[in-house]
Amino acid sequence: MVPVTVTPGLEINNRFGVFNHTDLIGLPYGTKVSSRNGRGFVYVLRPTPELWTLSLPHRTQILYIADIAFIISCLNIRPGSSVIEAGTGSGSFSHSVARTIGPSGRLHSYEFHEERATKARDEFALHGMTMVELSHRNVCQQGFALLDEADAVFLDLPAPWEAVPHAKLAMKKNRVTHICCFSPCIEQVLRTVNALNRSGFTDLTMYETLLRPHEVHQVPKLVSIDSIVEQVKLHEIKKEQRRLQQVEASDKKRNNLKRKREQTEEGGPDLDLGTGDQKRRRDLDASHPSTAVDVDSTVTKHTLDPSSPPLNHKEARLAALATSTPMSKPMPEVRGHTSYLTFATLLPALNNEMVMEKNDDPDNVGARWEDTETTDAFDQLLASIPEDELDRVLAGQALADG
Ligand SMILES: C[S@@+](CC[C@H](N)C(=O)[O-])C[C@H]1O[C@@H](n2cnc3c(N)ncnc32)[C@H](O)[C@@H]1O
Repeated sequence: MVPVTVTPGLEINNRFGVFNHTDLIGLPYGTKVSSRNGRGFVYVLRPTPELWTLSLPHRTQILYIADIAFIISCLNIRPGSSVIEAGTGSGSFSHSVARTIGPSGRLHSYEFHEERATKARDEFALHGMTMVELSHRNVCQQGFALLDEADAVFLDLPAPWEAVPHAKLAMKKNRVTHICCFSPCIEQVLRTVNALNRSGFTDLTMYETLLRPHEVHQVPKLVSIDSIVEQVKLHEIKKEQRRLQQVEASDKKRNNLKRKREQTEEGGPDLDLGTGDQKRRRDLDASHPSTAVDVDSTVTKHTLDPSSPPLNHKEARLAALATSTPMSKPMPEVRGHTSYLTFATLLPALNNEMVMEKNDDPDNVGARWEDTETTDAFDQLLASIPEDELDRVLAGQALADG
């Protein structure tokens, strides 16, 4: 898959043929375009973050869609969110976040490698991502230069634990916010978990996201056990019939010889009562009256009639589909570099300032809490405050008084 900036006069030349950019102008997305030399075709697709992730120029390891989707969902990133990411890398994660937050959101992206920062900034501008602000900065040493700003933070750095205290400063204080750190080694996870605990984050959880795509194939229809049993039975009957025919033939031959010998010696016919095997054949034919004639037709009934006219391509495909069944199996190789995702929550500080805010309008307290997002941890925290303590707070006394 290749990203193409359509430029009149240019050509795409690949193993599927030659394609003139001018021919692509004005075509609806999804159009299948044949090559000029008839060698193949391409599809014109609308650029999306998912396609960009699959086709972007790699300057670093990148995040793939399974991790991206999970992180965006767990960080509760949505239209209008203010998000921090470090480092920017090749901008794979940035594109999906930019689409999710939309024009009313803000993505503060940090990259300490100057050339990567410049390239990513150019790409963001080219893709119209005006909600992204990229800073060339070492966030572990210099922090994020933001205070009380972000709803969510995502760290894809070799030493995220060094950036955790800086991240806390940059996160909003009056609502529940979330952080995620992406690390390939468990040692990094342990150091990150320590840093998150020390900085007062709660609700620490670690995940590994695994994608298991399946390939679908048409395979010949499976034969039922009943029909196999039936075929084995017919085969055995046919075998037995052949054996009995051979026995009958050799008996006949022997009797003929015997009769000839007796006629030569005395004359007079011999009464042929038949052998035990001949009797068995008569019994077999009696119990399976149709088998003697049906065996061959039963066996050949599933094969193609050689005298019928040859099938054309479409008919052959339909015939193959009719006698096959779809099956799926997991793909042996999946693109992506899987890492551990460590999530944590930062609860709003229950400090004097907030209490005063609530006291201003006690009736509005419920509405304020509804405005912010709650988590299980937050509910637990609230539940752990004795009711009379909470009443006193709401009635205008600072928590510290207790
Ligand atoms: C693995 S890449 C990020 C890939 C990115 N998430 C994506 O999906 O394309 C990590 C990036 O972090 C940058 N980096 C490492 N340490 C940093 C720091 N202290 N401050 C800012 N950026 C840093 C590296 O230069 C690198 O480009």
